[in-house]
Amino acid sequence: KVLAGYQGTALIEKKLSQKLGIARCIVLPGNADKQHGVIDSFGRRLNQLLGSILPEGKSIVSVTGGTTMARVAQNLSSNLSKNRKLLFLPARGGLGESVMIQANSVCAEMALKTHGQYRALYLPEDISAESFESLQKESSIKSVLDLIYKSNVVIHSIGTASIMADRRNLSPEEKMNVLDSNAVSEAFGDFFDQRGRLVYKVPRIGLHVRDLDKIKYVIAIAGGQKKADAIKSYMNNAPTHTVLITDEGASELILRDN
Ligand code: BG6
Repeated sequence: KVLAGYQGTALIEKKLSQKLGIARCIVLPGNADKQHGVIDSFGRRLNQLLGSILPEGKSIVSVTGGTTMARVAQNLSSNLSKNRKLLFLPARGGLGESVMIQANSVCAEMALKTHGQYRALYLPEDISAESFESLQKESSIKSVLDLIYKSNVVIHSIGTASIMADRRNLSPEEKMNVLDSNAVSEAFGDFFDQRGRLVYKVPRIGLHVRDLDKIKYVIAIAGGQKKADAIKSYMNNAPTHTVLITDEGASELILRDN
């Protein structure tokens, strides 16, 4: 096995960070496609990482939704709230996905597990440009949005474009646009092609990939061989200070390709 032993893993993490052009990669054993427990291990590792980077006192943590994040949330623990007051926020408004995996639910679960607090954004994901403008001015929404931009950390997953085009309730026309443009990955409602070029954007309220440069810590979490292409595609465009938590399944494939 290529990744056997600590030293082997440290080397793989370094190679992967270099290949993806990001600050740091954390590679955990296994393949999330085959072993459910791998996503739980991402959550436990995230808990450790947050414990080492979050300052004492108030911290704002913004998160996206998805099946990965929903599972990761279940593995955070209350030791994070020792000397800290944590506030979890959805990185963007969006009721486009099933309730259990919405960013709002991920926030609520993270707050429950860590004994922190959370705020929700009850907004449709696919709103018109006019509604978008007026909603942003609503005080209940504006107050959450203002806080999101002050996040200490943003934690997000990376989706496979074709799956996300289905899950985001795109019209058949929009879906065709996404697929015709050869989208490979998706994050924050932005779709990217193999080279990381933005090819489609779902209009939304909240954080966009371009806003991540202003956030001190950005943590991406995605694993399994099926996510290898999506990770590579997204990382072509990701802020370089991104830290990726992934598994051997994805990293072996990424490192194998040229
Ligand atoms: C969505 C996030 O909810 O989940 C996306 O908003 C992310 O940014 C996606 O790409 C990933 O989902 P999953 O189920 O593959 O973890």
